Amino acid sequence: KSGVKGLVDAAAGGVVDIPEIFIRPPDEVAEDLALVRTSLRVPAIDLNGVDNKGSSIRGKIVEEIKQASEIWGFFQVINHGIPMKVLQELLNGVREFNEQNVEVKKEYYSRDPERMVKFNTNYDFYMSRAANWRDTLIVDMLNSYHLDPEDLPLVCRCATINYLNHLTKLVDTLFELLSEALGLETNHLKRLECEKGRTLACHYYPVCPMPDQTLGVSKHTDASFITLLLQDQVGGLEVLHGDRWAQVEPIPDSLVVNIGDLLQIVSNDKFKSVIHRAIGNPSRARTSVGCFYHGVATPQKIYGPIKEIITKESPQIFREFTVQDYMMKFYSRGLDEKSGLNYVR
Ligand code: SIN
Ligand code: FE2
Repeated sequence: KSGVKGLVDAAAGGVVDIPEIFIRPPDEVAEDLALVRTSLRVPAIDLNGVDNKGSSIRGKIVEEIKQASEIWGFFQVINHGIPMKVLQELLNGVREFNEQNVEVKKEYYSRDPERMVKFNTNYDFYMSRAANWRDTLIVDMLNSYHLDPEDLPLVCRCATINYLNHLTKLVDTLFELLSEALGLETNHLKRLECEKGRTLACHYYPVCPMPDQTLGVSKHTDASFITLLLQDQVGGLEVLHGDRWAQVEPIPDSLVVNIGDLLQIVSNDKFKSVIHRAIGNPSRARTSVGCFYHGVATPQKIYGPIKEIITKESPQIFREFTVQDYMMKFYSRGLDEKSGLNYVR
């Protein structure tokens, strides 16, 4: 209940004895070691001038997003319009929440699916091969769009609300750009209400004594249309690029955007939901905040490959699905299980 940070805090003489459950199986470590790192970096895209619809600047941005989404499944955005202060305050708030006394955090500790705001480590604790070296405060808005600010811990309450408000405009813009990058009308993805539902995950990766045996988060793809990630300057996020890991180098005041499984499906494989992981850091704790845009998760709302994209040359490869069903399957397995895309093939 005290999370991974609680283990670190309790360590006598500063020496953390890592519980067995966090140690990854040797075959998995060996498999990963065989993958070398590339010096290539996830593309950074400058959004300055993007609001100028029909301009050549916007055209260039759309082309960059298309390339990045097809090839990398990841990009970083700079000059995205969210003030630096808003980002900084959220990272500080999340760090403060995690670094406060364990007793206070325990009040939020829960694995109850009904609870919207809860603190825990490893939602998939009982289903994975090894636990991850991170704690998460999750704001789960899968089944309701209404967040009561009072439910959020005071140390990060205003910062969280403020950030979520600012994200709305940026995410609208991103779904427009992604629609255009798929050759669709600007509002296509918004008409599918891809930006409607969102879940916020505030992660804290305590100092990790054995980063080669214990991961911050093991490799996975995201169950979202897109995910926006705010990270501090510590670094550790890596993206599979071909058969190599590429680092997502922290750029001050930038946000990382990645394509999730749901957008890979509706784009009929045009855009890629790419495997990523986070490495622990042996000397510094790391904070990151992911916002998953997963669309409308009701039994009535059906999603499927976009008809306009399906052609003779690129026939439909996924079935229709509901986000509700997809999420149920996603959450009933470990994060490190094989991709959920197979559910709808
Ligand atoms: C995640 O993909 O689960 C988090 C990535 C990060 O914190 O860098
Ligand atoms: Fe992820």
